[in-house]
Amino acid sequence: MSRIRLGVNIDHIATLRNARGGSHPDPLRAARMIRAAGGDQVTAHLREDRRHITDADMERLVASADLPVNMEMAATAEMLAIALRLRPHACCIVPERREERTTESGLDVLRGEASLCQMVPRLRAAGIRVSLFVDPDEEQLRAAARVGADAVELHTGTYALARGAAREKELERLRRGAALVRELGLECHAGHGLDYDNVSAVAAIPEVVELNIGHFLIGEAIFVGFTESVRRMRRLMDAARGA
Ligand code: PXP
Repeated sequence: MSRIRLGVNIDHIATLRNARGGSHPDPLRAARMIRAAGGDQVTAHLREDRRHITDADMERLVASADLPVNMEMAATAEMLAIALRLRPHACCIVPERREERTTESGLDVLRGEASLCQMVPRLRAAGIRVSLFVDPDEEQLRAAARVGADAVELHTGTYALARGAAREKELERLRRGAALVRELGLECHAGHGLDYDNVSAVAAIPEVVELNIGHFLIGEAIFVGFTESVRRMRRLMDAARGA
């Protein structure tokens, strides 16, 4: 099986920095440690309320990180303008609700189809790879293909929270979703809620070529350091691919 890419989401380095309002810890410093730890991409979410990553962070990441930057963003005119100005390697379009603690569900592509049909080609024309963060639901995945996305990131949050037989059922939904994404000619990514205990089954899905993981890695970094936290995830992903 092909090597699977690891995107490390560094939002919560910014959360910690913002708790005191200064400049430490610096998300760019973390971004520059990812490559040596075995990661392939820096992922960061510029939320509408700027609760963690700021405009200045995103600008510095795109200009100075030594890895491709995957900018997560809501499908708004403001975010489209920022992405077109900064031109990150990739954009992942996510749903956003102000009251949520994190991205709680996949994008409703069916509902937003008309506006995504405008936005996705504009991003792609600027040389940005576009993925849509979607639940493993057949109609949503088909709509993602219709709006012209390059990739789908399957939302693994429900799988991550499920236990026992319910988890196996969610895993099967992810497997079927990944197969459909490939059949539709799109690249398949996955992420949300992944940790050392639940990552292997997702990394073993052959159609999945990229995982984006944040909260667990930053939390684990408190105990073992950021590099070791990412390194161990890399090892688990490689082992799941039979590498
Ligand atoms: N992928 C997307 C699209 C996300 O919105 C998030 C959370 O910001 C992640 C992956 C990472 O999720 P987690 O922080 O739970 O690993």
